[in-house]
Order: sequence, then structure tokens, then C-alpha cells
Amino acid sequence: MKTIIEPFRIKSVEPIRQTTPGERQRFLEAAGYNLFQIRACDILIDLLTDSGTSAMSTGQWAAMMRGDESYAGSDSFYRLKQAVQDLTGFRHVIPAHQGRAAERILFTVMCKPGSVVPNNTHFDTTRANIEYRGARAVDLPLPEARDTQLQLPFKGNMDVAALEALIAEEGPRNMPLVMVTVTNNSGGGQPVSMANIEAIREVTRRHGIPFYIDACRFAENAWFIREREPGYAGWSPRQIAQKMFSLADGCTFSAKKDAFANIGGLLCTRDDRLAEQEKDLLILTEGFPTYGGLAGRDLEAIAVGLEEVLDPDYLQYRIASTAYLGRHIADHGVPIVEPPGGHAIYIDAGRMLPHIPANQFPGQSLAIELYRHAGVRSVEIGSVMFGENARHQLLRLAIPRRVYTQSHIDYLVEAILEIDERKESLRGFEIVTQPEFLRHFTATFRPVDKN
Ligand code: F0G
Repeated sequence: MKTIIEPFRIKSVEPIRQTTPGERQRFLEAAGYNLFQIRACDILIDLLTDSGTSAMSTGQWAAMMRGDESYAGSDSFYRLKQAVQDLTGFRHVIPAHQGRAAERILFTVMCKPGSVVPNNTHFDTTRANIEYRGARAVDLPLPEARDTQLQLPFKGNMDVAALEALIAEEGPRNMPLVMVTVTNNSGGGQPVSMANIEAIREVTRRHGIPFYIDACRFAENAWFIREREPGYAGWSPRQIAQKMFSLADGCTFSAKKDAFANIGGLLCTRDDRLAEQEKDLLILTEGFPTYGGLAGRDLEAIAVGLEEVLDPDYLQYRIASTAYLGRHIADHGVPIVEPPGGHAIYIDAGRMLPHIPANQFPGQSLAIELYRHAGVRSVEIGSVMFGENARHQLLRLAIPRRVYTQSHIDYLVEAILEIDERKESLRGFEIVTQPEFLRHFTATFRPVDKN
């Protein structure tokens, strides 16, 4: 059959609240037109992020009841460590409260001022943690990936020729590690091929540079490899993930994505000396190495989530439902980053609203209209977030895992297509107040035609 269904049934529900467009307009004004400042209870469908917003399973909730809250040597830690080692093969498994905490420890230990760290595309916390250390974060996406409309099976790949050139320019001694982010979140949730990971492995090994994976969405990436890369159709997602990890020296991981947990992260390595330094720092800021800032019950939820996320029925549904949203809007003329990614659909708001210049934030305008019209929260990824460095003016619709059903997605499609029909009426916005850093969280805006 061709209908894809949610491979779960619902045992516990959480009401969501309808509001009127008039009420939402008032909430927008009170929030300075910043969707981060709106209360969650005033949102109908929340697509701000897929991070920490998953629905946990009965298996995860049951495992949480046996959480061992011992300060040291918790059984829950050893269960998690076993699950992570079976999957990744990494000798050292260091828990942290979320992905960016693992990043901070990794870069503090491995980088020094002036170091250079390449990535296919750094996520913003990854870049910020590298820069905070005085090092330089360099993005090396495929040049073709700049074209949002181009269909490529592995548009998240790193440009390996550019990596070679950067190593020649900077010298391998100035490069403490090379990272690849799977899937490439900032690049549209696009996957990275096994061949690309193998090529990065080959280059880094030749130059003696450690190779790390930012593994937040490793399972979604594994599914794309199974579907799109010759030779992997008969592999299980777990086998593919195991091979990906076997090619790396370590990883950072946010358990808030592909482990269905509401909180948690991991730092893994094969290097005994590094692991010692990392654990010393962990004790200082996160906690003892058998809990790393998490409760024992969180460790249990992550261990079970890592098993569940590799279920082929789940992954098939997950990737198909994201593609369903993407195709249903793109095939009716709404430009998205093609092809649809794993965890999110990115509308190319710059292309959809050419009458709004980048400095009047077309992505923000669309985010505001989608909330006003339908109560849906999304996030601008463009000039509000990155200022003049923004490559595109995008609106991200990130899909929490196992949370919304097909009818929520159909409602969303209808809302977007209705806005598309009257898109010429959307207006630009300007910033009224903004903080010094990370302005997208707290800046306030006003419509340009209401000065
Ligand atoms: N790396 C990637 C690729 C991410 O997408 C994120 C988080 C992190 C690292 C940091 O992990 O949030 O647990 O500290 N991305 C979320 C998002 C916040 O909305 O895309 P964290």
C-alpha cells in the first residue's frame, strides 16, 4: 500500500489550544513580533524546533522508572554506555546535559586560539563554541548547495577538494579536528553520503587529523543512505549507522534529536588521553562522568531512544512525512530548499517574497504571517539570525518526532498555500530593539509600512 501511517498509536494526549487571528495579532504586538517571545500555550502547532520536543514512547517512560539516581556508578549510565558502544564502537562515552555542552568540552580540550575547524556546515552553537575558544570555524559545503532549487541526493556533503585546499593552506598542525554534521541542519537538513564520510576519513587520516561527527540526526542520515546510495539498500539503518561511526574518531551528539529525549547529549572518543581531559572538565561544569548533568532517568530515556530511532518503520514514516509536507507545498509553487530534508522543510522566503528585500526580513515576515493566519510557529533562518552573513532568507518548519499527525500536516499545507495566494500583501519588518549577541531570540520588530 502506498499510504504511509504513523507507526504508533496514542496513549496519552496533550491538548492544543485554538485562538483567533485577532488574539494572535495581539500576542504578536505584545511580543514585538518575535515568535520566541510568545507563550507556548498560545501556539497551535509548534515547529520552532525538532530538538527536545519529541514524544517519548511507553518503553522510554517505563525505563525512566528504573532510573538509578546514584551520584557515582549509576546502573543507568552503564546501560546507556552499552547502548552507545554497541552503536558507535567508541570506547569513551561521556554524558552531557545537551549537545552544546559536549561541544564546549570538546573544543575547549582540542582547540587553541588560532586553530581552524572545518565542517560541512557548522550549527550555530558549534560555531559559537569554536569561536569562543578563539579558533576559526570554516564551512565547506558543496558549492552547488547554494542553489536551493537544485535536486541532489546528498546535498549536505562536504566539499572534500576544498578541505584538501584548506589543509594545504593552514597546515594540518593548525587543524585539531575536522567535523561533519549529519544531517546538515544549517544546510537544509540535507544528508551526507557514506562515500563523502569515507573521503573525509581518507583525507584526515592521511594528514593525521582527528575526524568527528556531529551526530544529532545520525539515524535520519542513515535512512537517506539506505534509500539513495548505491549498495546500501539491503543494509539495516543500524548497520549503516555503525559503519558511519566506525569511520570517525569520535562524535558529539544531542540526544534531543535522534534519541527522542527531552534533554541530554554525549561526547564520545576513542582517545584515552583526551577522554581523561574531557572528564576532568566535565566534573567542573556538568557533573560526575557517570551522569554528566543529567538525571539517571534521562540516561535511561536516551538508551531506549537510541534503539527505537533505528526502527525501519519509524524512519520510513519520518522521512516520508517530511517529504509529504515539502512536496505538497513545493509542487504548488512554494519554493523550498530542494529536495526535502530529514527533520524540517525550509521555505525559501527570499524567493517566495521577492518584493521584500533581505534587510526587511522576508523569512520573519512569513513566520509572523504563518502564526497570525494559522497559529503555527516556525523560525526564520536568514538575516535576522545571521545578519549580513546570511546566504539565504529561509523559514524553517522543523517537525518534532512522533508528535503531530497527518491531519496537522494537512492543516499546515493548507495554511501555507492560502498565504501563498496573497503573498504580495505581506510586508517587510524592521528591528526596533536588539541585544548585542544572538539577536533572533529577543529582538523586537515592527512592520515597515506602519512607521
Ligand atoms: N548540532 C546540530 C547539528 C544541531 O542541530 C544542534 C541543535 C546542536 C548541535 C546543539 O545541540 O541543542 O542539544 O545543545 N539544534 C537545535 C535546532 C537547537 O533547533 O536545530 P543542543
